[in-house]
Amino acid sequence: MDLHSAKTSDCIMADDWYPAKKDAGDLNMPARRGVSQAAKWLLRAKPGNHAQECVRARAIMTEARGLVKGIHESVANGERIDPRTLDPVVEAIAASIQRDPTAIPSVTRLKLRHEYTFYHSVAVCGLMVGLARALRLDEAEMHQIGLAGLLHDIGKARIPNALLNKPGPLDDKEFALVREHTVRGHEILCDAGGVSDLVLDVVLNHHERIDGRGYPARKAGPAISVHARMGAVCDVYDAVTSARSYKPAWSPGEALEWMRGTEGHFDRAVMNAFAKTVGAFPYGSLVRLAGERLGVVLDPGQGDPLDPPVMIFMDAASKRPLPPLRIDRAGKSIVAVEYAERLGIPDWADVRREIIRHSTLGSSQDTHGK
Ligand SMILES: [Fe+2]
Repeated sequence: MDLHSAKTSDCIMADDWYPAKKDAGDLNMPARRGVSQAAKWLLRAKPGNHAQECVRARAIMTEARGLVKGIHESVANGERIDPRTLDPVVEAIAASIQRDPTAIPSVTRLKLRHEYTFYHSVAVCGLMVGLARALRLDEAEMHQIGLAGLLHDIGKARIPNALLNKPGPLDDKEFALVREHTVRGHEILCDAGGVSDLVLDVVLNHHERIDGRGYPARKAGPAISVHARMGAVCDVYDAVTSARSYKPAWSPGEALEWMRGTEGHFDRAVMNAFAKTVGAFPYGSLVRLAGERLGVVLDPGQGDPLDPPVMIFMDAASKRPLPPLRIDRAGKSIVAVEYAERLGIPDWADVRREIIRHSTLGSSQDTHGK
């Protein structure tokens, strides 16, 4: 199957990409407003090792998810919202990325399928903050970029659930309705008041494309701000690397390959800066190593992201499982980034999660990368 044509058709379905899905369990939980003591503590945390930061990142994710969910529910109930309640959690995410740029992305990459809706907003926030740091934007701008990530799909709170939860492809009329989330989100935040122009711009324009084929206004080239371009890159990257009911998760390497090869959608300079923040072999990627072995890229922590540890688990030719073997500094042994669906590995998101879990329990180790 041709990778690019397959992914383009997938994206038509995924675009809007991923109409947000609210599962029944989520809807039964009480809305949370305001920031907890936990988030305040996390904000003040001192740098530690990578494992410690991942624990903090999980706590920050949980906090942020609850706040975003509460805001979405308030909008759906017709209540007025105060987006400033999100400020402390944006600061906590930015502080985590400052201490360890890999922790928040590591945690958000492994979000569970049924928890997608609100975690996606948090993931985009983390990616936006990381990209803002890479582009050397100042602190105030970086904060607003993060807030824009948390709020970019707020307009979906006013799109009917039946439409957002539809399992099959959307027809033209339905797709047009889902596309309204950009304009609706802009209206919601204008009504709320106290929201910066930067956030309003990202919410309204994160689906515009450089070639003028985006929406809602089909803006092109210089008419699209750098902030909206950042939003487009981070939004699509998280969407395509997330498992959904209608598609498997693409590996980060595959996502970058497709995004960089897609003409006219993304700003090239922003895309290149983003690729550097994600790395050549991002955490969780499926890779083929010398000797026809398949492995999963593990978290490099403070190590070299271009020379990460890999957990071997399968023979690529026979598709037979291999005894788990951790290889540290495997960069030189990696011959290709692979695509689980193309290789016929079912339930890849679950398999990967299990391999990564196994890696934290200890296993045979080969530090030579051979
Ligand atoms: Fe969107």
